Amino acid sequence: MSETYTASITAPVNIATLKYWGKRDTSLNLPTNSSISVTLDQSDLKTTTSAMTCSSFTKDRLWLNGEEDLQLSESKRLTQVLANLRLKRKEKEAKDASLTKISSWFIHIVSINNFPTAAGLASSAAGFAALVACVAKLLQLDDDMTELSKIARQGSGSACRSLFGGFVAWEMGEKSDGSDSKAVEVAPLEHWPQMKACVLVACADKKDVSSTSGMQLTVKTSDLFQKRITEVVPERFEQMKKSIMDRDFELFAELTMKDSNSFHATCLDSYPPIFYMNDTSRKVVRLVHTINAFYGRTIVAYTFDAGPNAVLYYLEENEEKLMSFIYAMFKDLSGWESKYNGEQLSKFLKN
Ligand code: PMV
Repeated sequence: MSETYTASITAPVNIATLKYWGKRDTSLNLPTNSSISVTLDQSDLKTTTSAMTCSSFTKDRLWLNGEEDLQLSESKRLTQVLANLRLKRKEKEAKDASLTKISSWFIHIVSINNFPTAAGLASSAAGFAALVACVAKLLQLDDDMTELSKIARQGSGSACRSLFGGFVAWEMGEKSDGSDSKAVEVAPLEHWPQMKACVLVACADKKDVSSTSGMQLTVKTSDLFQKRITEVVPERFEQMKKSIMDRDFELFAELTMKDSNSFHATCLDSYPPIFYMNDTSRKVVRLVHTINAFYGRTIVAYTFDAGPNAVLYYLEENEEKLMSFIYAMFKDLSGWESKYNGEQLSKFLKN
């Protein structure tokens, strides 16, 4: 029996509150602006990845949600990520002759998402983060998460942020080799544990314009885009970090909603325009503003990635206030029963 090594890991989805949209280098995934996200709790949307390496394996293989990805060798991003991780192992082996030379062995990877893939729910973020963290563990690399984030970034830009829990910034960096384009922790989840997220799945189908092609169209054709990356986002980046450090929900929420709107405005300003939000998304936007107006303060924020699904951020103390509105609007849809018991549901109705 050949010697084997195994590792397993889960990585949660992160949802940007300050969006990454635009690449200045497409092969290294270097962004045109810095971004900020909140990594959802491990118990919510996540990818679970296991990997095994063995001297007798004859090729790298990947199974995604139970099906083998037969185009693995054609996926430039995946092969680049694996090559970078192997290189780090090779450097380690070169320094320590007692280590088994597993850097030259093939790897089998099994990855499962507990949510719809490629539907604008940041599946690639959790997927590449889990893959990088899992293979790094398998190859017993000593690098910290910021160092690994530079590799995850090359798989899918937003994946670099999923290596950290809590509030995370992806600093765009300036260098052309990407060595300073990395994820850093703004604050751990424990800093603001009252922050909650609710995902409203408006449509679980795959999106029609991938984020990579959408971004490039925006970079090339949108007039609004230049203002966004040179003026709007740099200022918002600092303000949003401060709102997190100060636990200032109203400011955090306002910046989050404005940034989602600004990102979708540049999509609409692309030529031909890209529509990620749909009628249901717009209904959610109006609902959130109605709820905030009703309470006379901002208790909830929406944000939309490259798809129609909404993520709402709110503080735990306001969950009932928010859910009674959402329940009244969407009570005919499924999903409530598994999360809330009958007593809670009737409370929402009374509110
Ligand atoms: O990482 P990608 O290539 O899937 O792009 C993600 C883009 C957005 O989700 C819309 C924004 C973000 O910062 O996550």
